[in-house]
Amino acid sequence: MPISPNCVHATPAFVFSATIAALLLSACAAQGPAPPHVEATPQTVAMGADNGLADWPHVSSSIVRDAATEARIEQIVAAMTLAQKVGQMTQPDVLEATLDDVRRYYLGGILNGANSQPGGYKRATFAQWREQAALYHAAAMQTDMAVKIPLLWGTDAVHGHGIVYGATIFPHNVGLGAMHDAELMRSIGAAVGAQVRATGIDWVFAPTVAVAQDYRWGRSYESYSSDPALVRAYASAFVAGMQGDLSKDTNAIATAKHFLGDGGTAGGHDQGVNYATHHEMIDVHAQGYFGAIAAGVQTVMVSYSSWNDAADGRNYGKMHGARALITDVLKKQIGFDGFVVSDWNGVAQVPGCARESCPRAINAGIDMVMVPEKWKLFIANTIRQVENGAIPMARIDDAVTRILRVKMRAGLFDGNPDRARGDENSLLARDLARRAVRESLVLLKNNDDALPLKRGARVLVVGKSADSLRNQSGGWSLSWQGFKNTNADFPAGDTILAGIREAVGEANVVFREQGNDVDPRAFDAIVAVIGELPSAEMKGDVMSINSIAESRRYPEDLAVLRKVAGRGKPVITVLLSGRPLYASDLINLSDAFVAAWLPGTEGKGVADLLFAGADGTPAHDFRGTLAFAWPRGPCQSSFGPNDGDPLFVPGYGLSYRQPQNLGALPTPTKASGCPTRPN
Ligand code: BGC
Ligand code: BGC
Repeated sequence: MPISPNCVHATPAFVFSATIAALLLSACAAQGPAPPHVEATPQTVAMGADNGLADWPHVSSSIVRDAATEARIEQIVAAMTLAQKVGQMTQPDVLEATLDDVRRYYLGGILNGANSQPGGYKRATFAQWREQAALYHAAAMQTDMAVKIPLLWGTDAVHGHGIVYGATIFPHNVGLGAMHDAELMRSIGAAVGAQVRATGIDWVFAPTVAVAQDYRWGRSYESYSSDPALVRAYASAFVAGMQGDLSKDTNAIATAKHFLGDGGTAGGHDQGVNYATHHEMIDVHAQGYFGAIAAGVQTVMVSYSSWNDAADGRNYGKMHGARALITDVLKKQIGFDGFVVSDWNGVAQVPGCARESCPRAINAGIDMVMVPEKWKLFIANTIRQVENGAIPMARIDDAVTRILRVKMRAGLFDGNPDRARGDENSLLARDLARRAVRESLVLLKNNDDALPLKRGARVLVVGKSADSLRNQSGGWSLSWQGFKNTNADFPAGDTILAGIREAVGEANVVFREQGNDVDPRAFDAIVAVIGELPSAEMKGDVMSINSIAESRRYPEDLAVLRKVAGRGKPVITVLLSGRPLYASDLINLSDAFVAAWLPGTEGKGVADLLFAGADGTPAHDFRGTLAFAWPRGPCQSSFGPNDGDPLFVPGYGLSYRQPQNLGALPTPTKASGCPTRPN
């Protein structure tokens, strides 16, 4: 039986409908943290004809169409040349397009890729970010167009404005899910909007609303939960916080991504094939879009993945070419009236297409094409494809209309093209992030009240991640993979070690990363901070050994625990990971075990929970509970009908209020390895 002290779910993680999930959530929440606000399921609009779309609901956006704006857009579009229209639909990487390019090609968008800081310099200053944004925005106002069209700049602030040196980094989504606190999500969305706007950037490629199902997927950490109701509530809260009504200086445009089904690819292959049935797609993977669109999200990014609805005999293929889903479902049936952006070179994966040419993607309904490098060829090819009839002019006009609608709604036309608001302090949201860290930690084991530790205790700290802002922050931090970062790359952050030192006093802490040359018996307790190393996207797929056993991938973590365990002193393990992992061997070596996910720059938020207050009673209690099921075996990376029970069900999480001992866990052998992944 799965272990579930706080709340009992009989249902495995991925199969329940949104409505059941909402009920379960509130049932759990009655004993634990406050429930997120979950709206009623949007109303289904019958389409009549059996085109397979009748079950998709219509969703009303909180940002409504305005007749005067629409009339103004129509006028502008009518006066634009084809080159100007195609330019508006094109989004290069900022390091691949000069200011003169913005003027000459009428570029509608620009992005900084995950490795594209100003000048290619990772430690670019706040002033440099701001100046670069001001110059690019100004260039767009210097075209020879009759009505100048402001430029939209996008960035991946997926856990705070993580690409900017000195910015606060929040926990990755996998941790935020464990908070089960939609109000806090709203505040985080607002804070990230303010960070981004301070640097002069308008548009954020977040939230990721993937409902991850197989933990071998390298992007599992970008998913809030396997529970579609929670993903939906969070999508809505984050968008509401970040965008507001788009009128404030701190509001930024949000993006729901990646449409559709990125979290459900077979075997967890990044960019792979999702075989969901029609109803699973609606009840599980699409829920985040319903929440985001209801809250007014203005852009949707298309997924690299494919959908093959084998049960219905409908193979939609690569999402970037799927007109039935982008145009018929998202725009017509659901009623999304913002614009759709493709993913980084995503059009290249559509059969018959290349990075620089893809009429099929545009005809499928993609409005802005993220074509980081080959954008000049793309513009030339697209113009030719319109001229020779491969792309209808009406499609181009629709795309440009949508882009202008979003730009107008966001206030880009309202005056000052310099979009930077606020100062360097807007990059900091340390108290808020620290609170999010505290709320996201899940206590999996706490035998004999090993935690909290007393102030003034003598603590031996071990483990490769105790003094590592790199490992705390994970991917999408200063660079795409986040792998080469050092502590010096995070000038406004604290390691977990720093938090421990502050809590018990520097003199009471000894740090030995590998646990060598020290006698654990000389201490009151040992804190081990271990876990996964940073990665992003497909690089984080667990492929080579195909097992989600932590100690199999990181034997050094098991080794360090073996050095300190069984010496008569309590061992407290803090696991940093972008997903639930099989860790029963590590849990057995620990008296207390905390899943801390990827907490970001505020390591003191972890220490806040490990130590009692000055009076000896807990200063903060654990509030986080699992938003994903926790594996019982080294090959249990998903929880479909044939995968068996999890060790800990969603909703599990101990607290100081509810002490409970955990017996020794079975550690199934893994010698024969795990079955290979389906494709
Ligand atoms: C990712 C997106 C991201 C984009 C821009 C892609 O590789 O899939 O999530 O927004 O790059 O960096
Ligand atoms: C870019 C990212 C992008 C990734 C996709 C990286 O080089 O910096 O923004 O998501 O490539 O492959």
